[in-house]
Amino acid sequence: MGIVRYRLRNASGTGEPAERLVEPASPAAVREERLVPEQPAVPAQNLPASRDEPVAGLDWEELEQAVAGCCACGLCKTRRNTVFGVGNREAELMIIGEAPGAEEDRQGEPFVGRAGELLNNMLAAIGLGRDRVYIANILKCRPPGNRNPSVEEAAACAPFLQRQLELVAPRVVLAVGGVAAHNLLATDESVGRLRGRRHRLPGSDVPVLVTYHPAYLLRRPEEKAKSWVDLQSLHRFLHE
Ligand code: URA
Repeated sequence: MGIVRYRLRNASGTGEPAERLVEPASPAAVREERLVPEQPAVPAQNLPASRDEPVAGLDWEELEQAVAGCCACGLCKTRRNTVFGVGNREAELMIIGEAPGAEEDRQGEPFVGRAGELLNNMLAAIGLGRDRVYIANILKCRPPGNRNPSVEEAAACAPFLQRQLELVAPRVVLAVGGVAAHNLLATDESVGRLRGRRHRLPGSDVPVLVTYHPAYLLRRPEEKAKSWVDLQSLHRFLHE
């Protein structure tokens, strides 16, 4: 399945990627997965949200309903399901990806396709199950054909993620991939340049770490060693 299972060698979080499971995925199997952005993302939080109902102040149930009924951008016409977010609502770690893919759109849950499988393995490598983290995306609806989110779509969806961040109040955010990093950090620097540093969510003290998107790692397995370094930093941060 082309997925490397990572595992910490010792409690201090040092070690190397270990235990290659099976053969690399065929290009066709990976094509559905999300990749690095082809267009520079403009930070969604810099744009006005185009929704009528205020999202600030909603509780979890209200927020979930607001997402389910949202038609603030054209993606509501093509989605099968909204993909709200999943996991522990009191998690110390919040993981933010880009947007639902085909499988997420079908199941209504983030990261359940091949990239999700790799994400699960990455988390397991630092001793975390999906039940220990909260996972959400920049967009709650799938862009047709898995294209990159438009600036307008990201802006329309931003208040939902903003509220999720407020409700979870994580100790740290892990942005996976360029779209997540660009929208969260108001930058267009490459993931390669953003990783390895502690950032802050603009307007807050919440630290943000950046690493490669699991779908990118499926395409570029040679980059997995770098993401392993990032995961070890995350592990160290969580145990500080
Ligand atoms: N890629 C993402 O960024 N998010 C998902 O939920 C699935 C694939």
